[in-house]
Amino acid sequence: MTDSTIVVAGATGNLGGRIARALRERGANVRALVRPGTARDKLERLQEFGAAIASVDWSRASEVTPACAWASCVVSALQGLREVIVDTQTVLLDAAITAGVPRFIPSDYSIDFTKLPPGENRNLDLRRDFHTRLDKASVAATTIFNGAFADMLTGQMPLILFKLKRVLYWADADQRMDFTTMDDTAAFTASAALDPSTPRFLRIAGDQLSARELTAVVSEVTGKHFRLFRAGGLRTLSVLIEVARTVAPGEKKLYPAWQGMQYMRNMFDGRAKLEPLDNDRYPSMRWTTTRDVLSARQVG
Ligand SMILES: NC(=O)c1ccc[n+]([C@@H]2O[C@H](COP(=O)([O-])OP(=O)(O)OC[C@H]3O[C@@H](n4cnc5c(N)ncnc54)[C@H](OP(=O)(O)O)[C@@H]3O)[C@@H](O)[C@H]2O)c1
Repeated sequence: MTDSTIVVAGATGNLGGRIARALRERGANVRALVRPGTARDKLERLQEFGAAIASVDWSRASEVTPACAWASCVVSALQGLREVIVDTQTVLLDAAITAGVPRFIPSDYSIDFTKLPPGENRNLDLRRDFHTRLDKASVAATTIFNGAFADMLTGQMPLILFKLKRVLYWADADQRMDFTTMDDTAAFTASAALDPSTPRFLRIAGDQLSARELTAVVSEVTGKHFRLFRAGGLRTLSVLIEVARTVAPGEKKLYPAWQGMQYMRNMFDGRAKLEPLDNDRYPSMRWTTTRDVLSARQVG
């Protein structure tokens, strides 16, 4: 238990709400920075588990800085394009430093983009741009890398094609990928926020599986025979990304089709794989496997 105060930006969101709750479960005081005019139900959800609310106009340092006062760490789970990931997070970073907050966790929660060159993944490039500011700042920063959210395997991520009983892969059926649930990512982030001596990067994975291994797991859990489906090689995927970006640019959208394809390419080419893992850093963590996620889908 702790009497630390942690500021959470993005607490009205999916991951941020879970981080705020996990911090409260660890005894921390949570101050959620929200936009003016945030819907009442979103605020009530945070207040129910004891988060304090600070409504801030993100364009005004004079509002964001006092909202960071006395915190031991600022955690960002903001989501958006450049104006949020670079611009709003910069306001938050500057405010944290001016308020004397010693530690900062940026909104990364992804594959390890430090191992990729710029230009391969638009959304991750925005985080890289923010890092160039973060790494010059007088604050101790810690990025959490968790691979893909395992929760997305049951829907959003086009890997397990449940109706067709296929597991789609690109290039290499034996390339392992990192999957961590949102709750596990949130729990680990909360522990990291309360840990005064974290390194610049922490890498976690609830599970590391290849498409072939995923095929075995989903077959076992569902009792149905799933088979591998090779969609093509990485060069084909790169061509498809270019085509999709030309015919359906959607540059102002957070997740246009080509953005999801960029993530797929990064996951299947193996360079952004997480190692070594820091899973054992907090002994209370219990990791959720892909089997657990798929079994819950069967029950649900
Ligand atoms: N590894 C993965 O597979 C994976 C998958 C999904 C997300 N993520 C990462 O997880 C993090 C959080 O994502 P999420 O899905 O939880 O996001 P989300 O549910 O969309 O929540 C986004 C949060 O950012 C706030 N926000 C958005 N635009 C803002 C702005 N202009 N000014 C101030 N606040 C703003 C939202 O506030 P309002 O409620 O006011 O809109 C909300 O609190 C991101 O870094 C994302 O990339 C990772």
